[in-house]
Amino acid sequence: MLEQQLIEMRRHLHLNPELSHEEFETTKSIRGWLEEAEIKIVDYSLATGIIAEVGGHQGGPIIAIRADIDALPIQEETGLSYASLIPGKMHACGHDFHTSAIVGTALLLKQKEHELKGTVRFIFQPAEEKAQGANLVIQSGALEGVQAIFGMHNKPDLPVGTIGIKSGALMAAADGFVVEVNGVGTHAAVPEAGVDPIVTASYIVTALQSIVSRNVSSLQSAVVSVTRIHSGTSWNVISDKAILDGTIRTFDEGVRSRVLERFKQVVDGVAAAYGTTASVKVVAGPPSVHNDSSLEQLTIDAAHSVGLEVIAVAPSPAGEDFAFYQKEIPGFFVFMGTSGPREWHHPSFDIDERALPLSAQYFANLAERAIQQLLITD
Ligand code: NI
Repeated sequence: MLEQQLIEMRRHLHLNPELSHEEFETTKSIRGWLEEAEIKIVDYSLATGIIAEVGGHQGGPIIAIRADIDALPIQEETGLSYASLIPGKMHACGHDFHTSAIVGTALLLKQKEHELKGTVRFIFQPAEEKAQGANLVIQSGALEGVQAIFGMHNKPDLPVGTIGIKSGALMAAADGFVVEVNGVGTHAAVPEAGVDPIVTASYIVTALQSIVSRNVSSLQSAVVSVTRIHSGTSWNVISDKAILDGTIRTFDEGVRSRVLERFKQVVDGVAAAYGTTASVKVVAGPPSVHNDSSLEQLTIDAAHSVGLEVIAVAPSPAGEDFAFYQKEIPGFFVFMGTSGPREWHHPSFDIDERALPLSAQYFANLAERAIQQLLITD
């Protein structure tokens, strides 16, 4: 029975989590499951991750379904009988769920392969947590010829049996930053002999709060979070340097560039005001997940076909490297209800496994509909 089979796969992956770029055993497991069902593996020379295809109808459209496969450096605290066997590593974002559900989709479509009027390419993508895997897949050529791509993330706060669907921005652009403030070190009792970078850094943290409140429209949104401050070596020494880092989240490219522009101005201005200098390094992350409205009706119809209740969801400020595929071709990303007890990346994160067969059936149905729509519009 499919449900039991998928639960076994998911638990096997959950027991054996592997971090980004290290998903060798995970890749082997996926390959084994696909080969057992005689599903065609396509060689795109990825170090980890694997590409497979079902269908192959000559001249028919190609669509892709993507699942991410990597785990996180988190110590599991669920107490589950199938909790991670690897200390300090855990599938705390449910990528084990995505992987096994999409293997399930491949198994379902394989059973009716001769009926498919196109090709479904399955992308089991590595290194999502580092936002690097999608670009590796794109560089490998695995997106060539693909006309539309679909994917999902589990959503702990949506009940099993529901699916969150939204056109346009669904997840945020996730940029990082590192600010280095340079002052002049001195004895803590003689601050006037130096230039204190900690005072500057403190004012920078405060001043950055004005970007969201004063430079972003109340009808749009952004997050600027300083998450780490590092400076100093002793209680009686004023350091010559302070490092701040953190993240910027936005849903709109215009807002994204405006926030980054203001970020640099605020840092430079505050640094100058206190006699220090500062440099800003922006670590560009994935852009916002932006769902193509021409695919929305398909995702809704497929949901209804398999008995999922459609929920209009608000965007999530988390990032997702699925966004890189959507820069190349039209794509649609959904949130699958999994009735989780905790949010993503929590040590007690879990999913309700009843969502496995539902997700497998959902993407099988969606794939057929997408091929059909492309045949009509071609
Ligand atoms: Ni995730």
